[in-house]
Amino acid sequence: MIFKRLREDLDAFMARDPAARSRLEVVLCYPGYHALLFYRISHKLWVRRWHLVARMLSQLARLLTQIEIHPGARIGRRLVIDHGCGVVIGETAEIGDDVTLYHGVTLGGIAPSVDSDAQRDRKRHPTVADGAIVGAGAHVLGPITVGASARVGSNAVVTRDVPAGVTAVGIPARVVMPQDKGRAKEFAAYGTPSEGLPDPLARTIDNLRGQIAHLLDRVEELENRAKGAEGSGSETEGVQAAQSARTFRRQGEKP
Ligand SMILES: CC(C)(COP(=O)(O)OP(=O)(O)OC[C@H]1O[C@@H](n2cnc3c(N)ncnc32)[C@H](O)[C@@H]1OP(=O)(O)O)[C@@H](O)C(=O)NCCC(=O)NCCS
Repeated sequence: MIFKRLREDLDAFMARDPAARSRLEVVLCYPGYHALLFYRISHKLWVRRWHLVARMLSQLARLLTQIEIHPGARIGRRLVIDHGCGVVIGETAEIGDDVTLYHGVTLGGIAPSVDSDAQRDRKRHPTVADGAIVGAGAHVLGPITVGASARVGSNAVVTRDVPAGVTAVGIPARVVMPQDKGRAKEFAAYGTPSEGLPDPLARTIDNLRGQIAHLLDRVEELENRAKGAEGSGSETEGVQAAQSARTFRRQGEKP
């Protein structure tokens, strides 16, 4: 079983790294493959409750590969860790099948050092679903989910769920487009204000629009009060300002 998995892993490296020229080269020269090999063994030990031995083995792997995979993490089939250096995969992380991670990726907790007793034995690391790609230097933090076939851009910091099939980039990560560009119309809905917007940028714009509308109402109210105090029946400056505020708000409601 374990050998079947390792052979599959080997084939995945061949299929997904254009630089890989032979299986022998992968076996000899790919730290991502070496780390996986150690993980497959240390995870077996971990689930049999040989925790210390499992941890020691994963530390040895870290020493040799600079890739730290906690033996308690659950990793599916055909994971490729390309280059690998600096990858950290936490204890409660879960990785589906056919996932690709590049160097410097963290699948970590948000603040493991805060009240660590309360966090013990709880899911605090991400789940990366089948076929997802996490770019170099990206940090995926907390018990969130990167959906199937989603792409996380290099150096992104992801702290919220990433829907399946989309690309998320930046800090904090925002959705830029569906991976399958044919489905672009489906994702246009992210631009409309509604609860549960998955795109943090859309959510921020939505909040700002709400605040501007509220401020304009307040300005109008104050202007009307000033007008009343002046006691003039004609078109005062206050009335004109109130009209322009109303116009501005109407334009703001239909961007
Ligand atoms: C995110 C990524 C997967 C591209 O996904 P994609 O769906 O093909 O998206 P595109 O390349 O069309 O880019 C979409 C938008 O995101 C931007 N973008 C892409 N990657 C980005 C990143 N890492 N950070 C910030 N913005 C990024 C693009 O500039 C583009 O913006 P625009 O629409 O304003 O022009 C890719 O850019 C990436 O980061 N891959 C990781 C690769 C890696 O780690 N390589 C290391 C090999 S050693």
